[in-house]
Amino acid sequence: MSGRGETKLAVLFVCLGNICRSPMAEGAFRRAADEAGLACEVESVGTASYHVGEAPDPRAIATAAAHGVDISRAIGRQLGPDDFERFTHIIAMDKANLAGIIARAPREARGKVSMLMDAVPGREGEALADPYYGDESDFAAAWEDIAMATGLLVQKLMAERSQPSD
Ligand code: 4NP
Repeated sequence: MSGRGETKLAVLFVCLGNICRSPMAEGAFRRAADEAGLACEVESVGTASYHVGEAPDPRAIATAAAHGVDISRAIGRQLGPDDFERFTHIIAMDKANLAGIIARAPREARGKVSMLMDAVPGREGEALADPYYGDESDFAAAWEDIAMATGLLVQKLMAERSQPSD
């Protein structure tokens, strides 16, 4: 992972369908980065192709909107080979996503891959529960974890940016 100032940061959030968790993470991260003044590209994708071309799940749109974040214009897309070159940080929501990413990643890109909850001290390696088969309360709980983790991730990237360690 590079924290050097000369590398343009680009963060990719990855879930299974790209209609629930990763679009919410993209929206929450974008707002946190904007508020912090962190210049960073951000997108989201799915490991699967089921929902390519679709808008996020209406429950994800409503949950983000309840927190003042508009994700309604996101369009589902599947992880592709170019993503391993375009993005500096590739962030999986759960272990199945992580395995799907690693299976497709060129060896030299594997160091870019982590899990969202790795950003939360004490919750490293934990999965972000998939709310797809749940109800609104599951989406609300997912948003709480996403907001916390993306906020901490922005802080971490800001710190790396100002103090390259190597
Ligand atoms: P996501 O949730 O990976 O957070 O977007 C899901 C969306 C769709 C499906 C599963 C999970 N699906 O099976 O279609």
